[in-house]
Amino acid sequence: MAGQQQLGFTTPQHPHPLDVFGLDGLYRTTWGGTVLGDSLEVLQSLPDDSVDLVITSPPYALHFKKEYGNADQGEYIDWLLPFAREIRRILSDTGSFVLNIGGAWTPGKPTRSIYTYKLLVALVEDVGLELAQEFFWYNPAKMPVPAEWVTVRRIRVKDSVEFVWWFSKTPFPKASNRNVLRPYSKDMIRLNKKGIRATKRPAGHVINEGFAKINNGGSIPPNVLDEHVPTDLLKFGNNAANDPYTKRCKQAGIKIHPARFPVILPEFFIKMLTDPEDVVIDPFTGSNTTGMVAEALERRWIGIDLDESYLEASKFRFDSVEASPAVPIPSTSNGKPKRQQSKNSIVKQA
Ligand SMILES: C[S@@+](CC[C@H](N)C(=O)[O-])C[C@H]1O[C@@H](n2cnc3c(N)ncnc32)[C@H](O)[C@@H]1O
Repeated sequence: MAGQQQLGFTTPQHPHPLDVFGLDGLYRTTWGGTVLGDSLEVLQSLPDDSVDLVITSPPYALHFKKEYGNADQGEYIDWLLPFAREIRRILSDTGSFVLNIGGAWTPGKPTRSIYTYKLLVALVEDVGLELAQEFFWYNPAKMPVPAEWVTVRRIRVKDSVEFVWWFSKTPFPKASNRNVLRPYSKDMIRLNKKGIRATKRPAGHVINEGFAKINNGGSIPPNVLDEHVPTDLLKFGNNAANDPYTKRCKQAGIKIHPARFPVILPEFFIKMLTDPEDVVIDPFTGSNTTGMVAEALERRWIGIDLDESYLEASKFRFDSVEASPAVPIPSTSNGKPKRQQSKNSIVKQA
């Protein structure tokens, strides 16, 4: 298979994921590869119970169109559910599906759309996913929109959070919060050294003397992710204007993806919900933040997007992952990159 000689696992225990799934890729790295095509078709081609984590941020149902196109709020749930059904099917029984989705305003009115809540209910009740936990991504850099209500009439405030829902196939997905512990606060370290007297907090929690002496290696994180969450992958940047991906796109005069999520988002969930060599898929991978993080954490990964220019630019992300450059997979005879065909027409590359 093309590219296999250069990069990728070829042992029976750890085959490269493009090879495992018989997918044509646009480029491959040591641990994964990107696929150009409609992710619904690609997901349909994958076997049941074969994936450990799907983490993604689909196009949102904004009432204005972004450059990569959005379904309207009313149609959005109908559009997304077929993807979610495939995702549930391909997840292993211990697998998870993490979905980042932003809210929206009702067109023309200073009220919030409830499409996200309807979607959440549909994912649980119609698709059959378990809601393991809700998380929130606190992003103070979001624009103060709609301007009419926030900056002109001043009757609403800035919307600064997005939902990150963690779903699973069963009530007990593989998960360990020990993999995402945060450094103890200064107060906690001080208490740890001094010890404290048994006391009862106003909320009724009893803190006994032993509490402060127990060092579990860090504090259990809350379900809010923001730019201040400590990251092991700082060198990859966090969507700042000068992160390596953005810089390289600017230098090359290539379109920068307009809706990237921060490195901490895939980093947190990949660490908490998977082990090295597990398979992680992002069906709307855009600039491939997920693939880059999975690569650095040594998980096998597949990133799918139907926009070739986003995937081309996403190769830059692997400049910063040591020993894992993105290697293009040779194109077809007409010189065009291979676009993944639907289920019945998947042909392995010669
Ligand atoms: C919100 S962006 C994802 C950004 C990504 N999380 C990142 O950090 O760069 C959504 C992506 O979904 C892609 N997309 C939309 N519909 C798709 C489909 N049916 N199949 C594959 N990709 C699709 C768009 O091209 C876009 O890049």
